[in-house]
Amino acid sequence: MGRIVYVNGEYLPEDQGKVSIFDRGFLFADGVYEVTAVVGGRLVDYDPHMERLDRSLCEIHLEWPCTKDELKIMHLEMVRRNKLQEGMVYMQITRGCADRDFRFPKECTPTLVAFTQTGVLIDNPNALTGVKIITVPDIRWTRRDIKSVMLLAPVLGKQAAHEAGAFEAWMVEDDVVTEGTSSNAYIVKDGKVITRGLSNRILAGCTRRALFRLAKEKGIGIEERLFKVDEAYGADEAFLTSASNFVLPITEIDGRRIGGGQPGPVTRKLREIFLEEATSGSSASAD
Ligand code: PDD
Repeated sequence: MGRIVYVNGEYLPEDQGKVSIFDRGFLFADGVYEVTAVVGGRLVDYDPHMERLDRSLCEIHLEWPCTKDELKIMHLEMVRRNKLQEGMVYMQITRGCADRDFRFPKECTPTLVAFTQTGVLIDNPNALTGVKIITVPDIRWTRRDIKSVMLLAPVLGKQAAHEAGAFEAWMVEDDVVTEGTSSNAYIVKDGKVITRGLSNRILAGCTRRALFRLAKEKGIGIEERLFKVDEAYGADEAFLTSASNFVLPITEIDGRRIGGGQPGPVTRKLREIFLEEATSGSSASAD
């Protein structure tokens, strides 16, 4: 693979990027992360990701490990050193290394790591066909607004989807869809987009935020409300959003075809306007 990774201030060949077994991220999932898309060598929606990081850190009472400028330089360096044109930068901050004790250590330096991954974001073949999803019970904790590295429930959900021949799993609580294992969830009915409002029950997606802004500019209505699985089965269209997929059509939920099994017009339009902005290197991006 031959990537350059970042570990606590150093840029290293990936086989030299190592973290201690005493790291609290490893022992307690005591940390947070961000995944920022890269298109045409530019970071997409960088500022919203860092705003959300700031909030996640604050919620778990963890100081920034460096200044905001330093973190931006690190992201740009990772893109540059890895000659990354399309893909993503993953970065993670944990409370650092200490003897195993649930309480916060008195003296502890946070661990900051990052790596890049290449990926096809623009010409994603799944966007043409749409993807199948399944539903699974939402077994996560109730602070899903924090982008925590505690991801066992999403891992199990995504694996269940994979074993069912599906791309993603929507998580369900009291018959209501919360979100995907690594994406936000939407349905479309009579030309209007429906997605649940922000709360501690879901992650405030940066792609969701951009989508709201772009939809408003284009006069596409979005209604923030809960929707049940049954309503999703009967929707005209369904789609998901995330930094790694942007806007991705869903054409089957639990074996039931949505919108005749083809990506619908509202979803296609939203993906188109999202890609337009991501590829144009507008103000939402960072060079
Ligand atoms: N996941 N909801 C959950 C539970 C997520 O994990 C994600 C992102 C989103 C979408 O957020 P955004 O639009 O900011 O990517 C919603 C990332 C991509 C991941 O864990 O790989």
